[in-house]
Amino acid sequence: MQRTLIWDLPTRLFHWTLASCFATAWLTSDGDRWIAVHVFAGYLMLGLVAFRVLWGFWGSHFSRFATFWFGPREAIAYLKEVVAGHAARHVGHNPTGSVAIYILLALTVVVGFAGIVTMGGDEQQGLAAGWFSFSQIEVLKKLHEAGAILMLLVVAGHITGVVVESVQHKENLARSMVTGYKQAEPGTPIAMARRGVAGVLLLGMLSFAGWWFYYAIDRQIDGQGWHVKLESGTGEEAHVKFVGKQLADNKPWRDECGSCHSVFYPALLPARSWEKMMAEQDKHFGSDLGLDAPTTAAVLKFMVDNSADKHLIEAAFKIDKSVAKEATPQRITETPYWVNKHREIAASDWANPLVKSKNNCAACHTDADDGTYEDGAMQIPKAPKMTVSAPASAPAPAKP
Ligand code: HEC
Ligand code: HEC
Repeated sequence: MQRTLIWDLPTRLFHWTLASCFATAWLTSDGDRWIAVHVFAGYLMLGLVAFRVLWGFWGSHFSRFATFWFGPREAIAYLKEVVAGHAARHVGHNPTGSVAIYILLALTVVVGFAGIVTMGGDEQQGLAAGWFSFSQIEVLKKLHEAGAILMLLVVAGHITGVVVESVQHKENLARSMVTGYKQAEPGTPIAMARRGVAGVLLLGMLSFAGWWFYYAIDRQIDGQGWHVKLESGTGEEAHVKFVGKQLADNKPWRDECGSCHSVFYPALLPARSWEKMMAEQDKHFGSDLGLDAPTTAAVLKFMVDNSADKHLIEAAFKIDKSVAKEATPQRITETPYWVNKHREIAASDWANPLVKSKNNCAACHTDADDGTYEDGAMQIPKAPKMTVSAPASAPAPAKP
């Protein structure tokens, strides 16, 4: 037996990057705070799988599919041998491991594409933005989640297999996937390191990461990108702003409706609510807006064109669904969807001087002004310390 290079560098790079991406995607899947990172990991995994498929034909001997082209029957037979404690040692992938590899590659593709379509429908972003509506992607979202759980199970099985095999054959398989070397009989095909290919792969991944985090993701939060300190006093790091589509804007609306409180984007209430509000503009929550007829009509047209019924953003779709057909709510903060989404916010967060009022949306939604209400742009400001005089981030109207 002699120390032989079995796994070339690209195969090892692929293996550990895919594993890290999976872990990252898993850890960033809960909530939407890290969605930009989650999505990055997903795209990278798809790219890695595409590379691995090519490498299954052009890679070193033991990286080629031809050397581990095992089917389920062989996988089960081998598994039985392992359980019985007398499994034959394979220098390359063993039959059970091989099937796990094919399952993981296939699941990555399924989960990845289901994720892209889910994001296209749910957040109206990414490659599949606008392909499907919010309601149409419910099933794909489930597929994305179930597929990821299945992947986790296969990964767990894979790791168990590596541990069991390592013990049975008294060799550290995880380390050989790092160094590339294993003990093998003379005459075993030796892999070439293929540093050039690994270098190109690494460069490709780094360029993609650079493009993604510095270009694709909006750097506009304070113009500083990635981790950004919010205004002094909050002590909280802003979420990465996830680029959303740009919603239509309208100057008369912004001027007329943004003078007392921050503007509430029309997508947050159905058209009938805006119609009622503008018809009663002389009795607007106790104030007379004093708008003339042409201005009222212009502002109303913009609001109706972009109202919740148009489902321009996820929140619009959900608010529209949550409001009873016969209801004409005048407050966004009274729509069932809004109430439900904000019910878990602690009283101390509402009392925070940087928040003050429920309709100070911009205190927690950094994109409130744009109207997109992306999950990734949401953050609850930390209450400032006693010593800091807190700048209110937006003028808030009086408490209801
Ligand atoms: C003269 C000041 C003033 C102007 C101008 C004004 N508002 Fe208001 N608006 C108020 C006040 C006061 C409230 C009630 C705030 C509260 O109770 O917290 C309010 C509340 C609202 C709410 C309810 C927010 C919630 O709780 O969900 C909406 C929606 C709204 N305004 C829309 C508009 C629109 C649309 C325009 C432009 C046509 C506009 N406002 C212009 C003073 C104004
Ligand atoms: C105290 C901070 C805070 C304020 C103020 C606030 N929100 Fe939120 N908002 C949150 C948090 C936290 C969530 C996320 C809740 C969750 O996902 O469980 C949220 C979620 C949302 C969502 C759902 C986003 C999605 O997934 O589509 C919408 C829409 C929304 N808020 C709109 C508003 C509007 C409109 C206002 C102002 C009238 C407002 N919020 C004021 C903290 C706040």
